[in-house]
Amino acid sequence: MSLTIGVPREVIAGEKRVATVPEVVEKLIKLGFKVAVESGAGDAANCSDETYSAAGAKIIQGAANLWAASDIVFKVGVPTTEEVGLLRQGGTVIGFIWPAQNPELMQQLSAKKATVLAIDSLPRMLSRAQKMDALTSQAGVAGYRAVIEAANAFGRFFNGQITAAGKVPPAKVFIAGAGVAGLAAIGTAAGLGAIVRANDTRAEVADQVVSLGGEFVKVEYEEEGSGGGGYAKVMSEGFQQAQREMYAKQAKEVDIIITTALIPGKPAPKLITAEMVKSMKPGSVIVDMAAERGGNCELTVPGEAVVKHGVTIVGYTDLTSRLAKQSSTLYATNLFRLTEELCKTKDGIIDVNMDDDAIRGLTVIKNGEVTWPPPAPKPVAAPPAAKAAAPVQKKSGGHGKASAPASAKSTAIMFGVAALLFWFIGSGAPPAFLAHFTVFVLACFVGYMVVWNVTPALHTPLMSVTNAISSIIAIGALVQLGPDGWIRWMAVAALALTAVNMFGGFAVTQRMLQMFHK
Ligand code: NAI
Repeated sequence: MSLTIGVPREVIAGEKRVATVPEVVEKLIKLGFKVAVESGAGDAANCSDETYSAAGAKIIQGAANLWAASDIVFKVGVPTTEEVGLLRQGGTVIGFIWPAQNPELMQQLSAKKATVLAIDSLPRMLSRAQKMDALTSQAGVAGYRAVIEAANAFGRFFNGQITAAGKVPPAKVFIAGAGVAGLAAIGTAAGLGAIVRANDTRAEVADQVVSLGGEFVKVEYEEEGSGGGGYAKVMSEGFQQAQREMYAKQAKEVDIIITTALIPGKPAPKLITAEMVKSMKPGSVIVDMAAERGGNCELTVPGEAVVKHGVTIVGYTDLTSRLAKQSSTLYATNLFRLTEELCKTKDGIIDVNMDDDAIRGLTVIKNGEVTWPPPAPKPVAAPPAAKAAAPVQKKSGGHGKASAPASAKSTAIMFGVAALLFWFIGSGAPPAFLAHFTVFVLACFVGYMVVWNVTPALHTPLMSVTNAISSIIAIGALVQLGPDGWIRWMAVAALALTAVNMFGGFAVTQRMLQMFHK
């Protein structure tokens, strides 16, 4: 029997988003689910009851009835105690949970024998998980909105203009922190015509800043800021001092500062001091995206826009809600992609497969049993230096020196067996076959080594292109098509199989290229 997905109206004050939208309701129904939506749930995101109804959802009056009718509940905001009270015994909840910050909520959900999938706990470094990554989709919306808020509070154009009434210089925007939100802000501000500068403690983002039309401003102090997994680490006092000096210089020069600096699990680093605010030109704007975590600016008031020393400091914590339709649509798509992963059979039943890395990572409670935190993720890619130093260790999935001798031994055995096999084939086979076979074996080896040394995140583009190219097999098959008999049918089969490879490669490449089309 197919399950019912329920979408309640969000209860936290100011939350305008909704966990699914009518376009996605249709897709969920195609996956075999029934969908129930609480009356008015989408009103603030411009999704009326009628549009949900037209998409095939059942509209239910009142939260209690909605929760009672739902096997799975899709939520945006962290569930409140009242909401957990309404959840069915053994029900499933999917949404933002933040298990580390909400131990009580975890206990309440566990007591309900619930299964809870926390979208915030998705392992973000898995390339397969990107389509479900709601933190990224929401931060992207917030980064865009931060620039719009800045433009709203700023008294001038963003782009430079030469008009009959005079010359207008372009606005100068400085972005502190170039993570997901920061990069979205850089792209938006550059698109509006501003001169954009950005800084981040992780040097690896410099290229991304430039590719979005910004200029990367370095701190004159040698220290790598990457704490692993695409996140930052707390920097040394020496670095912080050098960074403060650079930020002080930028504050005097620019018109707008957007701060997005964040280190997971730590209070927001204070980057903009009261002195720096004082030194900015009157009419300047600061948008502090980290307001909720204490702010990157000393003078930020969370949730408000205040004017201090002639500078407007925007500390809104609901930037995503201020673009509710957009953020809800992206969020709904993230949850739909997750549902697809949970329901591969397309029969409206979910299977929380704990052997799947992505599903394991975000399942924080299963049938009442707390499964958070998940085991440490398997290493995705070793840093280049380690790779060069210990290729054999990585191959065996080893984590340190202890595993090296074992790996070396197994590699030696593997090579020994391969050599024996080769000798055995060589002693019987005709010389022409042997020459081709040698090329074949070497090609397999080279291909394997090439793919192995590419970061997993790049496997899709790599495979799409190499699949198309490697279909040189087609030529070999065509050559064999001539005479009758089993060789001909083998050639036909080879041609058919390689066609899948070839056209599949081109199709994937085309899909990837389309992602960059406007
Ligand atoms: P992220 O983790 O992708 O990016 C944060 C960036 O800050 C990282 O690139 C990190 O290297 C950088 N950083 C850390 N310390 C730094 C320092 N001392 N100097 C310069 N850069 C530093 O996070 P994401 O998703 O981009 O979010 C950014 C902020 O926006 C967070 O504070 C998040 O809570 C907030 N946010 C706010 C919303 C709102 O409505 N106000 C909505 C969504 C996100």
